Amino acid sequence: MKIDSTTAAVVTGGASGLGRASAEALAAAGAKVAIFDVNEAAGQEVADAIGGIFCKVDITSEESVVAGFTQARAAHGQERITVHCAMTSRRGKTLAFDKEAGKLKRLSTEDYIYGVQGILVASYRIASLSAEGMAGNEPNEDGERGCITLTASVAAQDGQIGQIIYGSAKAGVNGLVLPMARDLSDIGIRVNSIMPGIFATPLMLGAKQNVLDSLAASVPFPKRLGKPEEFGSLVLELARNGYFNAQCIRLDGAIRMAPR
Ligand SMILES: NC(=O)c1ccc[n+]([C@@H]2O[C@H](COP(=O)([O-])OP(=O)(O)OC[C@H]3O[C@@H](n4cnc5c(N)ncnc54)[C@H](O)[C@@H]3O)[C@@H](O)[C@H]2O)c1
Repeated sequence: MKIDSTTAAVVTGGASGLGRASAEALAAAGAKVAIFDVNEAAGQEVADAIGGIFCKVDITSEESVVAGFTQARAAHGQERITVHCAMTSRRGKTLAFDKEAGKLKRLSTEDYIYGVQGILVASYRIASLSAEGMAGNEPNEDGERGCITLTASVAAQDGQIGQIIYGSAKAGVNGLVLPMARDLSDIGIRVNSIMPGIFATPLMLGAKQNVLDSLAASVPFPKRLGKPEEFGSLVLELARNGYFNAQCIRLDGAIRMAPR
């Protein structure tokens, strides 16, 4: 897809980390970017910096997402690119010893549903509502009407102890990719996901320095955390390169996560 000043893009989670880097990369390539995020102050700041708009959107609410797309499309026109980075989840082991109760406690179904809603259901919501709008786009010379990029995680393939919710919901995101790409193939909308390894974003940088150092040392090459702009660069390439479709791509310096 050719990206220029007529190309509208939506980036969820664009106020921070990988979403922010995606929004910056798309804006630098000329796109008009709408940032969907719950963090109003940070989202507005990014939008101002890249000449885009901020839409206060909670990805776990259908009503809020629909309102966000309406606002973004009114300002920039129908998006051709959607990048979904935001998520909400919880962690915990399937069975963990509860010292107070003196017995094993099961991670609740309620906790599990919370993560599946915040990761998998939200990914379907964003992608399908965006595709519905993209279907009205004029096709380009390749017959293409849009490109959707979801964010999974290496935990989709090597989920660690305590990541039962996150790992399985992210695997579900990868599971969306092929059937949705096939569903949307007759309309000319591509669907891919990126599985980041360990990236230096506020999500990770909250950890202690010794933890960050040992995480960096565990990456085969390069021995460091990923830079958000490296994620943004792949987002841009996935949009530009029209032959990428139904791919789940690891971006991870060859890391394979150990059980813990
Ligand atoms: N950073 C990593 O190492 C890493 C690794 C693997 C996968 N990921 C995935 O990448 C994505 C982005 O992670 P990040 O590291 O950039 O995180 P981040 O915390 O830096 O940014 C997440 C953004 O999402 C927003 N957000 C949270 N809940 C929201 C909601 N309900 N509605 C709308 N916006 C909401 C936050 O306000 C924030 O701006 C996530 O899906 C995460 O699972 C990150």
